Amino acid sequence: MTHVLLIGNGAREHAIAEAVMRSDKNPRLFAYMKTNNPGIASLAAQVRIGRYNEPKAIIAFAKETGAELAVIGPEDPLSHGIVDELTVAGIPAVGPTRVLARLETSKSFTRNLLEKYDIRGNPRFRNFASIEGIETFCAELPGVVIKPDGLTGGKGVLVQGDHFQTRAEALDHCRSILKTHPSVTIEEKLEGEEFSLQCLCDGRTVVATPPVQDHKRRFIDDRGPNTGGMGSYSCPDHLLPFLDSAAVAEGLEITRKVAAAIRRETGVPYKGVMYGGFMVTATGVKLIEYNARFGDPEAMNILPLLRTDFIDVCRAIIDGTLDRLDIVFEKKATVCKYVVPIGYGLPEENPETASTSARIEIGTVRGARLYYSSIDQRPDGFYMTSSRAIGVVGIAESLEEAERTAEGAVSAIHGRVDHRPDIGTEPLIRKRIQHMKMINKKLYN
Ligand code: AMP
Ligand code: GLY
Repeated sequence: MTHVLLIGNGAREHAIAEAVMRSDKNPRLFAYMKTNNPGIASLAAQVRIGRYNEPKAIIAFAKETGAELAVIGPEDPLSHGIVDELTVAGIPAVGPTRVLARLETSKSFTRNLLEKYDIRGNPRFRNFASIEGIETFCAELPGVVIKPDGLTGGKGVLVQGDHFQTRAEALDHCRSILKTHPSVTIEEKLEGEEFSLQCLCDGRTVVATPPVQDHKRRFIDDRGPNTGGMGSYSCPDHLLPFLDSAAVAEGLEITRKVAAAIRRETGVPYKGVMYGGFMVTATGVKLIEYNARFGDPEAMNILPLLRTDFIDVCRAIIDGTLDRLDIVFEKKATVCKYVVPIGYGLPEENPETASTSARIEIGTVRGARLYYSSIDQRPDGFYMTSSRAIGVVGIAESLEEAERTAEGAVSAIHGRVDHRPDIGTEPLIRKRIQHMKMINKKLYN
């Protein structure tokens, strides 16, 4: 019997819970969640509802349940140092300590780390603790991106051309960010296609999982505000239509160097997930950011494909033996589409779209997997909150078939819901390939 503590309450953690329960190590799952996720609850031997910034409550639950190892899903508990507390309590964890989680929580830490250890992948950038010098630096760059230092849930980044136009606007944004954040990073705006490379790291060895492309924009054709992610896909060849094996290898190489650098910098081995958000550009692969956890939705693309026992993977991360484990992912296509309340990601004040706890009906779903996110189970059925509700995943031999499976399942879900029908479809993929061709042409013409 293996007692596993899972911290987190989203669809990503539902996928992790499923991977744990597929293990042949006779797993018993104990879930500590902020809100009750009925999908995770249905797999768990016991659940506890509590806050992520209350380590005492988490440790008490871990001890009560005899947890032998912990898997931490979201960034919140990591940033509060839950792994440090678990370590003191003698419970090993898949997830970095607070100091190492700065890879995600501090944009400036990560940019500076790459620079200090001479790791390629950074765009031109500078950190500023005051407004002094920002205007001059912006003038040196053809386009800028503004990043507040600290956790922003993927929604705090401002991109020139998307969120603001002029240099004066950029300065205004920086002034207001500096009122609430210790510093701001200004960086060169890159052009290219983004991909997520979720890597497993035991402190020494780094293993890549299949690359995935997420869709951050709320609406069809990449329009509307940025969200936590509306859906994602991966391909049977473990590449992406605009991404060759050399580019994947570049992302992995950067991550390997970062794992070694962060160990030298802090003296502590990084044990957990290093999820690199990369952009393939005309001049190679660039780092957008690191996350210290699996992606949401991207975890739903890769974990169902994992053929190696997930508990063996967790143990290898903890024991530093990833180099001795053969980690195998099925060569299949996956398409994940998030079913969201229609008001998701939109201004709260709009009464047309304002999200309340609307009912959601889940009909008969064939072939696809459903991962619950912000779903509340009440005696009279399922209700949504204002966040992403259900991750629907189609898995098949081809992208086309996986997309069709996902769409079929989405159409069985009813209520005041929305999703992005274009994710994983041929026209959108073609656009991505064209975009990449155009960018390369600009450079070589
Ligand atoms: P982040 O929170 O760092 O992932 O940024 C959110 C989004 O902003 C990314 O997914 C990119 O689409 C965009 N972004 C961030 N940094 C850059 C950059 N240097 N150049 C272009 N786009 C960027
Ligand atoms: N898919 C974006 C994230 O997990 O941060």
